Amino acid sequence: MINVRKFLNQKIIEVMSMLGHPVEDGLVLPSFRPDLSDYQSNIAMSWAKKLKTSPITLAHKILKVLSDIPEISKISVDGPGFINMSISENFLINNLKPALPKISHKKIVIDYGGANIAKEMHVGHLRSAIIGESIKRIMQSCGDEVIADVHLGDWGTPMGMLIAQLKKEQPELVFFKNHTKNLENISWSMNIAEISALYKRAAKNFKENDDFKEQARIATYQLQNGDAGYIALWKILKAVSLASIRKSYDKLLTTFDYWLGESDVNDLLPQMLSDLLKRKIAVESEGAIVIFLSEKENRTPPPLLLKKSDGAYTYAATDLATILQRGDMFHPDAILYVVDARQKEHFEQVFEAARLAGYVKPEVSLEHLAFGTINGKDGKPFKTRTGEAMKLKDLLNLAKDCARANLPKTSKEFSQRTLNKQAEQIAIASIKYQDLKNNRVSNYIFDTENFIKSEGKTGPYLLYAVARINSILAKAKVKNSKITDNILITHPIEREILLILEKQPEILEDAYTRREPSVISEYVYLLAQKFSTFYAECPVIQEKDQRIRNSRLTLIKFIKNTLLYHLNLLAIEAPEKMLKDKS
Ligand code: ARG
Repeated sequence: MINVRKFLNQKIIEVMSMLGHPVEDGLVLPSFRPDLSDYQSNIAMSWAKKLKTSPITLAHKILKVLSDIPEISKISVDGPGFINMSISENFLINNLKPALPKISHKKIVIDYGGANIAKEMHVGHLRSAIIGESIKRIMQSCGDEVIADVHLGDWGTPMGMLIAQLKKEQPELVFFKNHTKNLENISWSMNIAEISALYKRAAKNFKENDDFKEQARIATYQLQNGDAGYIALWKILKAVSLASIRKSYDKLLTTFDYWLGESDVNDLLPQMLSDLLKRKIAVESEGAIVIFLSEKENRTPPPLLLKKSDGAYTYAATDLATILQRGDMFHPDAILYVVDARQKEHFEQVFEAARLAGYVKPEVSLEHLAFGTINGKDGKPFKTRTGEAMKLKDLLNLAKDCARANLPKTSKEFSQRTLNKQAEQIAIASIKYQDLKNNRVSNYIFDTENFIKSEGKTGPYLLYAVARINSILAKAKVKNSKITDNILITHPIEREILLILEKQPEILEDAYTRREPSVISEYVYLLAQKFSTFYAECPVIQEKDQRIRNSRLTLIKFIKNTLLYHLNLLAIEAPEKMLKDKS
């Protein structure tokens, strides 16, 4: 399938060059008046003055050349000089192919997820996982080689806090003795609930008790400097935590190529710091090591802290070293970070430091793909009824319970297992779609009433559209690959749908360049809506004329595959069959 907008744009460029006015962009856009045309070009208005002519005259010159090409069925000059163009039916029919053009061949590292060891994942982490997974899939489908790394928070002060808390509660444990012997095979462990409870107690103490704070600092320093007991303990806590984190990501259909974390750059840190000091990029200041960064918008940013005066390395230090590590491991063209907007300054500073230090080639792009927060109805960060930060697990359960309650208790056709599975798929689709339908950077309010409904701009609405098409295809007894008949356009909605189907290359490119999954979510919704209109107005199985019937079956098969393709870009799975819900 070719990109129709690019095709028309290219035509305008060619005509302009024929007329002796080479331009780089034909300024073709989807029509502002879809009732009049499919696309429009604003080239005449923007060039006429420079070419000392009127927009209308220039537009008519272009029209004259383009009115002969078979791909354009209708062309007119309107208003002050808009060139309105409509695509011919033949072109639309012949361009309907499943394969989309590859538009990029870069190597991209994408850092998303970012779960923290011992801390239970909260809704903030949800957005990184959902948006990151989608951006990864969008980039892959455009032709990039994408390396996904979860970048676990497994190294800083929170680890020291955990260790200090455990030491306080159970000083007799083997980890806290002086070690000369190997601590590899220890049978002691804690389950994830205990670890998160331990973390909560540690966080409370850290906030309230200066003495404990000091203990946690020391523990962080000792862990980062290789204390054998602490390392052995940390490994156990990390393994247990990681198993639970993996489960959550599995549920969210989020997959990573690398499970690296902050700790994986620990060995690079001393050398990195001495290099930075030697080259005078970093300096010692009050016992700490920092980088002073340049003034921006009349404001001197705070120095970037790499090593605290107590000897512990910071989050910024691990991020800077991770840039070095990724350069060595992957030689990427770009590194993308799908992280909360509140970390904007952190990334600006780390990127600037990386450039100053020459840790990244000038042509490599470093991008913070920020996202907003999930809020409750009160406009404040989303909380549970008891006022705690909403945990990911609780949100998943809440959604699943709502989805299950909307389905019949029992069914002749579906087993309990299938119904539960369906409820889970609906729950995940609802949560994800509610998130991805918003602009990445905006905050949004989690709508606990409507997100799970099967009507409206929701995940379930899309899933039901797919299931409905599946059921029509099954009733018509057509296998997916069996329909080969040509498309016939016999109703305006069919033409409209073809045009929408062929917007795919434009949509994908837009989502890619803006790193914006909401472009895709908007598109699937539009297509699902148009399918509903089509289905209300055009009989498919009941259609008497075999050629029209086959054409319509082919069309809905295309709609279904296009819905599935884009749902997959959002990492949303659609069940093959669905039982009608009660909402
Ligand atoms: N673990 C961090 C957090 O929970 C997110 C990590 C984001 N990635 C990064 N390279 N800093 O805030």
